[in-house]
Amino acid sequence: MCGIVGYLGPLNPKDVIMQGLKKLEYRGYDSAGLAIIQDGHTKLIRAMGKLQALDDKIKNESWTGHIGIGHTRWATHGVPSERNAHPHKARGITLVHNGIIENYHEIKERLLAKGAHIASDTDSELVAHLIAEEYEKVKDLKSAVERVLPQLTGAFSIVVLCEQSPNELIAFKDGPPLVVGLGKGENFVASDVQALIKYTNEFIYLNDREIVKLEPSKVQLFSSHGVAIERKSVTLNWSAELTEKQGFAHFMLKEIHEQPRTVAAAVNSHLVENSVRLDRVGFNDQNYFENRETLDVEKDWQNTQKVLQGVERVFIIACGTSFYAGNVAKYFLEKIAKIPVEIDIASEFRYRDPVIPKNTLVMTISQSGETADTLAAIRLAKEKGALTLSLCNVKNSSIDRIADGHLYMNAGPEIGVASTKAFTATLAILNVFALGFGKIRKSLPVKEEQELVASLRALPSKMEVVLSYDKYFQAAAKTLKDFKGFLFMGRGTSYPIAMEGALKLKELAYFHAEGYAAGEMKHGPIALIDERMAIVMVAPRDHYFEKTVSNIEEVRARGGYIISLGSGDDQALKRISKQYLPIPVSDWMTNPILFVVPLQLMAYHLSSELGYDVDQPRNLAKSVTVE
Ligand code: F6R
Repeated sequence: MCGIVGYLGPLNPKDVIMQGLKKLEYRGYDSAGLAIIQDGHTKLIRAMGKLQALDDKIKNESWTGHIGIGHTRWATHGVPSERNAHPHKARGITLVHNGIIENYHEIKERLLAKGAHIASDTDSELVAHLIAEEYEKVKDLKSAVERVLPQLTGAFSIVVLCEQSPNELIAFKDGPPLVVGLGKGENFVASDVQALIKYTNEFIYLNDREIVKLEPSKVQLFSSHGVAIERKSVTLNWSAELTEKQGFAHFMLKEIHEQPRTVAAAVNSHLVENSVRLDRVGFNDQNYFENRETLDVEKDWQNTQKVLQGVERVFIIACGTSFYAGNVAKYFLEKIAKIPVEIDIASEFRYRDPVIPKNTLVMTISQSGETADTLAAIRLAKEKGALTLSLCNVKNSSIDRIADGHLYMNAGPEIGVASTKAFTATLAILNVFALGFGKIRKSLPVKEEQELVASLRALPSKMEVVLSYDKYFQAAAKTLKDFKGFLFMGRGTSYPIAMEGALKLKELAYFHAEGYAAGEMKHGPIALIDERMAIVMVAPRDHYFEKTVSNIEEVRARGGYIISLGSGDDQALKRISKQYLPIPVSDWMTNPILFVVPLQLMAYHLSSELGYDVDQPRNLAKSVTVE
C-alpha cells in the first residue's frame, strides 16, 4: 500500500525522502512524488511508475530546504497517473495520504459548488482543499487539520506541509500505520520504521485518531480533539543492514536463504533444554509494551498457563499466506492440544456476524500486523468478548497493540512482497504454541514433547540441506515454463503447503495454479489433467502417504506430468514421478517448514527466468492496509 515519508531537519530533505521511499518500495506502488519547501515556495514533482522515473525527473534540479514530504502511491481512487500521484496541493497546503476517504463524493460536490479547482481524481486532493479552507480561517496548521477531521469518514493517514508555516509537519493517523522517528535537531514520520532505520532507532508509534506536530527539535502528540498526550518512545534494534540485499540478486532470495536462522530465532527463546515454555505472551498485561524486554519470563509462563487453561476452542483468522499458516496450525492444535479449531479468512469473518462462544481464544496471524481485514477481525473478536492473541512479525504494529496476548515471528524485516521467511517463522512458532498449549491441557506426553523439541532444534540444519539442493529446484523450475497450468496437492498439513506453493507460483510467475487437498481431486480437478498439466505433489512419509501415492497413480493414468516432493530417497515416489525432489526426513510437525522451501525456490527461479520483478510482483502490495 502507499508509503509516506516526511522530514524536517538539517539534511537535504530530498535525499532523506528518496532513500526512505526506496525502503518502502516493497509495499507496492504505481507512482511517486515529493514536495519540499524551498525559498518560501513548495516545489512539487511527481512521476508515474517506479522511483527511478521520479529520480530521473529530479536529479538535475537543485534541491535545498529543510522540510518535505514524499509518497509512493498504490491507486485506489483514480487511475495510476502523474496527475493522481501524491503529494497533492491546494493553495499553500500540500499533503500525502494513505487510505480511503469514504465520503469523498459528497466533499467533492461541496468543493466544486464553491468553485474549487480540483486537479486530480483522488480523494486525497480534497482533503488538501479542506485544510486550506480552514487554514485561511484559523492561521494555525494543527487547528486547521483538527477542524477538518470531523468532516471525513474512512480509514486514512495524512502528513501535511504548509507554505506559510515552514517549520512544522502535521500528521494524523486513523487506520494505515504512521510512525514518528526521533532525531537530534531533526524529526521524521513514515509509514514504516524501515524507511527511517538508517537515521534513528528511536520511534513513537501513533495510535488511531492521534495527531502529531513535528518541529525540528520537538514532537508533540495530541488526540484528534487537540488534547495533549504523553507517550514514551520505543528503541528498536533492527539494524540498517538487515534491510539490505547482502549480495543476493533479490530480497526474496536473501529471505529464502535466511530461513534456517529466522526459524531458529522464532523458537529459541521458548525452548528450555528439551521442553517448551510458552512465555513472553503478556496476556492482559496493561504495561506490556513498556515492559516487554524486561518481563519476568517464568511469571509470564505461569500467567499464560492460567489464562489458556480456561480456553475451550480456538479461532484462527488471517489473510493470504498467513491464512495458510493458520490452516497448518489447525492440524497441530487439534492433534497436540486436543482443542477444536476453526479457521477463517479475515475478510469473511469480519462481515459474517460470527458466533464466538464463551472461552474462545481468537488468534490472528499477520506478518505486517497492519492488514486491514485482520485488524478489523481482531477488533470484532474483542467486541464480542473473546480473548485475543496476535502472532505477527512487526512489533508494535496495530494488530499487536490491540491484542490481549502477543507472539512474534522474530523474522526481521521482510522486504520481498511475497512472504517466505515470515511464513516458515510462523509455522515454527505455531509448533511451539501447539506444544505449549498441549502441555497446559495435559494432552502432550513428556516423551513426545522432548522428541518434537529435538526435531525443532534440528530443523535449521535440515533447512540448510534443502537450500543446498537449490540447483535441482532451479532445474525443475526451468521445465515448468510450457505447462498450461499447475495443480499443487497434498493431504494433512501438506494440503495448506500445496495451497501456499500454488500462491507463490501465481504471485511471482503469473501462472494459473491451484492448491487442492489431494483427496478432493476426484471431485472435480481430475477433469483438468492431461499431459499439459503439471501436478506438484507434496508427499512426505506421514500417515497420509499411501493415500497420496494412490492419487499420484490416478494422475499418471491420465498423462499428467508429476513432480513429487518426498522424504529422503523415496524409491516408491521416484518410480511414479517424472521428477522427484528429496527433502530431509523429519517429523510431521516440522515437515511443512521443510517442504515449502523448494516451492518458494521454484516460484522464485521461474519468475526470475521469465524476467519478472521478483521482489515487487505486479498489482501486489506488501501491507494491505485498505480493503
Ligand atoms: C503472499 C502474501 C500475502 C500476505 C497477506 C497477509 O505471499 O504475502 O498473501 O500473506 O496479504 O499479510 P499479513 O501477513 O501481513 O497480514
